[in-house]
Amino acid sequence: MTGKTPFDLDSLFVIPEFDESQMKTMMAEAYERCQANPNAFSNWFPAVEVAGIRHPKTSTITLSPELQSTLLDGKPADAQVETQIDALVQAIQTFGTEHGYPLFIKTAFTSAKHYWSEACALPDGHPQTILAHVCELLNFQGMNGIETFTPELVVRKMIDVAPVFTAFEGQMPVTEEYRVFARDGVIEGYQPYWPVDSIQKPSIAAWQEALKAISTPTGKDLDFMINASERITRSLKGYWSVDFLKDKEGKLWLIDMAEGHRSYRNEADFRIITQPEQDLSC
Ligand SMILES: Nc1ncnc2c1ncn2[C@@H]1O[C@H](COP(=O)(O)OP(=O)(O)O)[C@@H](O)[C@H]1O
Ligand SMILES: [Mg+2]
Repeated sequence: MTGKTPFDLDSLFVIPEFDESQMKTMMAEAYERCQANPNAFSNWFPAVEVAGIRHPKTSTITLSPELQSTLLDGKPADAQVETQIDALVQAIQTFGTEHGYPLFIKTAFTSAKHYWSEACALPDGHPQTILAHVCELLNFQGMNGIETFTPELVVRKMIDVAPVFTAFEGQMPVTEEYRVFARDGVIEGYQPYWPVDSIQKPSIAAWQEALKAISTPTGKDLDFMINASERITRSLKGYWSVDFLKDKEGKLWLIDMAEGHRSYRNEADFRIITQPEQDLSC
């Protein structure tokens, strides 16, 4: 026994060293991949606007990879990032002054909705509140391996809803919502948004009855969702899930979309919609 380690530990755990320019290139490439993701908000939302389907007032604010890595690492911001942070805070404050708080904010890919009060529900425009919520969203996105960066922050007017209870860590309001699946303008079916077994920490004892009471759309709701989903998937092309949220007056809003094959489909509660066959005989 010489007391020497038989392995050269340093060579077993080699952490590649990148110089600054390599790091910048890698960040730029990762950012481009995020921008190209079809699920990124800016890759589907403009089609919703063009189609004129009811959606909440929305503003998107570009977030550079440098700003995101600074916020995620908790590093001191350099002058350029400092300016970007000020601009971000100001843009949110301007939207908040115009449309009122709370605002709904999310990355291009996620709202971290289960952490509602800490993440997507922005109660006021204080810079510290804004940055805490943005950091929560970025952290959630990164920690869950959803995407490396987000091309933008999405800022939306909060829809006035009639939740039946709140749930999860962040007391998220549980409201009537549906997810429709459609391919190239043809509806497959829909499901109530919240599966019973997904609910955690409900705020009331009779939550199962309350959830059941918001799981069946009216005929008018269905017509609206079918028409909207047909139009938007005909325009975007491909297979999509299309999410609708009901406001307290009973109107449905298109709030979210994602590629169908990446979207959770609840087979137990799925309701197939068969469209009448077109008569092509003459
Ligand atoms: N503008 C809004 N006003 C009120 N509630 C909203 C709004 N947008 C989304 N929500 C609620 O937050 C949830 C998550 O929002 P969503 O945009 O679908 O984010 P995610 O990408 O995390 O699914 C929705 O299912 C809905 O309950
Ligand atoms: Mg969603």
